[in-house]
Amino acid sequence: MKIGIVTGGGDCPGLNAVIRAVAKTAAKRGWETLGIIGGYDGLLEPQNFRVLDYQSLAGLLVRGGTILGTANRGQFSAKTGHGETRQLPKELLDATKAGMAKLGISALVSVGGDGSLTIAQQMHEAGIPIVGVPKTIDNDLAATTTTFGFDSAVACATDALDRLHTTAESHNRVMVLEVMGRYAGWIAIYAGLAGGADVILIPEIPFQYESVCRAVREREKHGKHFTLIVAAEGAKPVGGNFVTSGMQQQNREARLGGIGAVVAAEIEQRTGKETRAMVLGHLQRGGSPTYMDRVLCTLFGAKAVELITEGRFGRMVAHNGRCVDSVSLAEATGKLRTVPLDEGFVHATRSLGICLGD
Ligand code: F6P
Repeated sequence: MKIGIVTGGGDCPGLNAVIRAVAKTAAKRGWETLGIIGGYDGLLEPQNFRVLDYQSLAGLLVRGGTILGTANRGQFSAKTGHGETRQLPKELLDATKAGMAKLGISALVSVGGDGSLTIAQQMHEAGIPIVGVPKTIDNDLAATTTTFGFDSAVACATDALDRLHTTAESHNRVMVLEVMGRYAGWIAIYAGLAGGADVILIPEIPFQYESVCRAVREREKHGKHFTLIVAAEGAKPVGGNFVTSGMQQQNREARLGGIGAVVAAEIEQRTGKETRAMVLGHLQRGGSPTYMDRVLCTLFGAKAVELITEGRFGRMVAHNGRCVDSVSLAEATGKLRTVPLDEGFVHATRSLGICLGD
């Protein structure tokens, strides 16, 4: 038996750890694993793949990125905008099947976020034996309580906040840290709580500049001459829009970036406090996974092979809050898991007097 594994969408820490777990678990069953290079395209002519034998897995647990490469554009893109999905043409699905047959692959593991898993669901509907593993630093997939990559991104953002804390305090400044999080503020709220932020702006709660400035002035009144603010890239003022950056490409989700600088300028102008902004950007997606992500990736990879063994295709590995389980790809895709406004995190944040901008 031979299986294939493909990594798709934006990269994140832990992809290699999943590849390793899948190939090791498969090898224990006597199966061979082929790593498909450059996303699903590697299955098409000219085919691009590598054999993932035992030797090739050395060092992968801790290595960032993906040794298989990844793509979040091109003919296998399913997401063309917020909530907008594209159906892959039949010829492309047929060519994928033919590519798998040529390589002798009888099942595929797709490791990706909502876009790649939506494609996996379409492949499943077209009769391709496929299972999914959920990846995204944004942690915004509805059917799993955790995606891998998230913990590593939060660790990176928390470290940045710790560093900004000391320089903010030394200079009596306001510091705004912009973190990733397009539609969900999980990274912002986790890192904000872990790093002692005074203001946390998330996409789920449109903010008012006056409320943010009030928090800065309040701290001044209490002798705290610096303020730490975390803003998710998808945070918006009431009635405002996403702040985008760079060239916007057709049929792709808008490239976000810049809300931190906008918030910083507004605070400086309204309060007179010296303010600086910093975009953490792709640092959150690079480097070695945390121990939590390494464990999660290992459990996810092993579970994916278990699903194949049981012939349970069209499913995605998922964490249900207690253990690693699975859900159908149909249930898992197209639904976002945003920060709930009426429970846990938001309540605790408010109880601590942290400003959420509303
Ligand atoms: O989906 C994860 C994510 O990190 C988003 O938060 C961010 O908007 C996007 O990827 C950026 O992706 P890229 O710069 O690779 O297009």
